[in-house]
Amino acid sequence: METKYIKIDADKDYENLKCAAEILKQGGLVAFPTETVYGLGANGLNSDAVSKIFEAKGRPNDNPLILHVHNLSCVDELVSEVTETAEILMEKFWPGPMTLVFKKSQIVPDSVSAGLDTVAIRFPEHKIAQKLIEFANLPIAAPSANTSGRPSPTLASHVFEDMNGKIEAIIDGGKCDIGVESTVIDVTENVPVILRPGKVTFEEIKELIPTVEYDKHLIEQSEAVKPRSPGMKYKHYAPKGELYILTGDPINIEKYIKENLTKKTGILTFDEYKMGVSHEYSLGSKDDLDSASKNLFEILRKFDDEKLEKMYGFMPCDKGVGFAVCNRLLKAAGGKIIEV
Ligand code: TXA
Ligand code: MG
Repeated sequence: METKYIKIDADKDYENLKCAAEILKQGGLVAFPTETVYGLGANGLNSDAVSKIFEAKGRPNDNPLILHVHNLSCVDELVSEVTETAEILMEKFWPGPMTLVFKKSQIVPDSVSAGLDTVAIRFPEHKIAQKLIEFANLPIAAPSANTSGRPSPTLASHVFEDMNGKIEAIIDGGKCDIGVESTVIDVTENVPVILRPGKVTFEEIKELIPTVEYDKHLIEQSEAVKPRSPGMKYKHYAPKGELYILTGDPINIEKYIKENLTKKTGILTFDEYKMGVSHEYSLGSKDDLDSASKNLFEILRKFDDEKLEKMYGFMPCDKGVGFAVCNRLLKAAGGKIIEV
């Protein structure tokens, strides 16, 4: 299949999204930018269209998808109940990088919810995403637009690498601002439970709803604790080489890296710790967690482009969005930490 490439530079280009919306209405796949990462969209009410997503990504079909909407009133027909907790969070954080898990209604196909009795919904803030969904006038099922297991795409070129020839269109809206996927929160009960950390943080939610909890698997590093969000159990974001996270005094980390450096070693670092060697990529200043969040996946993909065999990474601070960055980084490393 030939994949159409649609570049959107300015507001007036939104008209160009109409042909992409038409593809969605016809049951095709369109990748589009959101403020978190690029999504791979299909008509979320059409099981055949949804099954093409699983095929293009090589995604296990027990992993449910998020339905994307362009306003609050679209939620009603998709869910069977909106708890008070959900109301509070929707009011405060939508549109934005937050996905809520509700009890689903009858019209949500089983292929979207992977057989669960719940459905995940997100109202993105990105104007291109909003316009595309509005023109299609449908809930759009969209996982991250990467091949399953690879880092999520934060640039259209990443989507092109993974999806060219497999989907009908890619909309290029530049680099995603946030760079890690949305915070997923189960709001089926009155106590909200964070299933996947993101830009909307535990602390921000706690200010509104003090009972908020993390799903156990996010805080207990035990094989026995199963995540409630099916996607969190899979190995994810992993570069092709072996990634190790180094913790301890930055001076010792630098010494360790220098002792173990080869031509095929990559380094994920911060501006303050740069050593001036090859294949060294900075997430930004160590105090700028937004920059770490924005750059992480792009750097993990660069390691693949350069066919590096071993990578060493500094760990960011785990406060605020840093918790989400650490979560993705640890998954990318398959939990491999070296204390120096
Ligand atoms: O920022 C994002 O959320 C991006 C953009 C494109 O919106 N989307 C995204 O989708 O990250 P995906 O499919 O890569 O991740 C969705 C996560 C998975 O871990 C999945 O298991 C979980 O949400 N999820 C979806 N539906 C669920 C449900 N009903 N219950 C629990 N977890 C659910
Ligand atoms: Mg994903």
